[in-house]
Amino acid sequence: MENRKIIAMWNGHIMPLEQVSVSPLDRGYVFGDGVYEVLRIYNGCPFLLDAHMSRLEQSLEKMSLPPLSGLYADILSVIGHNEIEEGMVYLQVTRGTAPRVHSYSNLALKPNVLIYGKHFPEHPSAQDAKSGIKAISLPDLRWGRCDIKSLNLLGNCMAITLANERGALEALQFRDGFLTEGTSSNVFVVKNEAFLTPPLSNHILPGTRRNYLVEKLRLRNSMVREAPISQQDVNSADEIFITSSIREATAVISLDAKQVGSGRVGPMAKLARDLIMKGIEEQCGVLIG
Ligand SMILES: Cc1ncc(COP(=O)(O)O)c(C=O)c1O
Repeated sequence: MENRKIIAMWNGHIMPLEQVSVSPLDRGYVFGDGVYEVLRIYNGCPFLLDAHMSRLEQSLEKMSLPPLSGLYADILSVIGHNEIEEGMVYLQVTRGTAPRVHSYSNLALKPNVLIYGKHFPEHPSAQDAKSGIKAISLPDLRWGRCDIKSLNLLGNCMAITLANERGALEALQFRDGFLTEGTSSNVFVVKNEAFLTPPLSNHILPGTRRNYLVEKLRLRNSMVREAPISQQDVNSADEIFITSSIREATAVISLDAKQVGSGRVGPMAKLARDLIMKGIEEQCGVLIG
């Protein structure tokens, strides 16, 4: 099952990923002018597919890219061609190919759409979720439209590289002294049994797991506050955890080499993960440990 060839759908055509060829004038290649989604697949089922599709629609609209149709079927087709039970699907849309000019005003191009899927031999983040992860804090150097899931990820790449070089698996970013998000995750802080997370704004991505969890926590009457969180609040947190499609909910047990709370995966991080796992079981019919 391992080392399988990855099968892609490139502008509607199924082919091996390695055979997809992109023009050097594609605006995604030249300017990062495009958007993307990463979906987690459990038991062959894309979890929170509707939420991903509606965020994609919004990203396209915010970048004045045309809406796309047929993506649900395309994603299922890619899952089928790659025989993915446990894995992920990557989907990206660029504005298309054109002579290099910065402005896209009046550029009516045909978007280039790439979808491919990858089978995971084992749940890649399961061990991290059991033990918790280390993170560092960094100033948020990114642009002012982090609500768009754009291909421009250089700030995120620089921050996660620094985190990895310091032995950590995520960087929690701060803008003007307030928490924004991780490099590929949203962040929750637990204080006195209340869940705090930064409010939706142009400075964070509206994470599918973040939004799902806020809804589920409120349904069970947990205290959830979407409000600005200062660096001091983070430093004095009882628990911190991150959420994302790949990591679901994963505890941060050390920040900047200092223990967070008990230094172990706390009960609220566990509750958050359990709520997401329950959703996966309900939607995809599979129990994930
Ligand atoms: C910058 C950023 N924030 C948050 C998230 C979490 O979003 P989701 O829960 O939809 O995966 C991601 C996911 O990759 C991300 O890149």
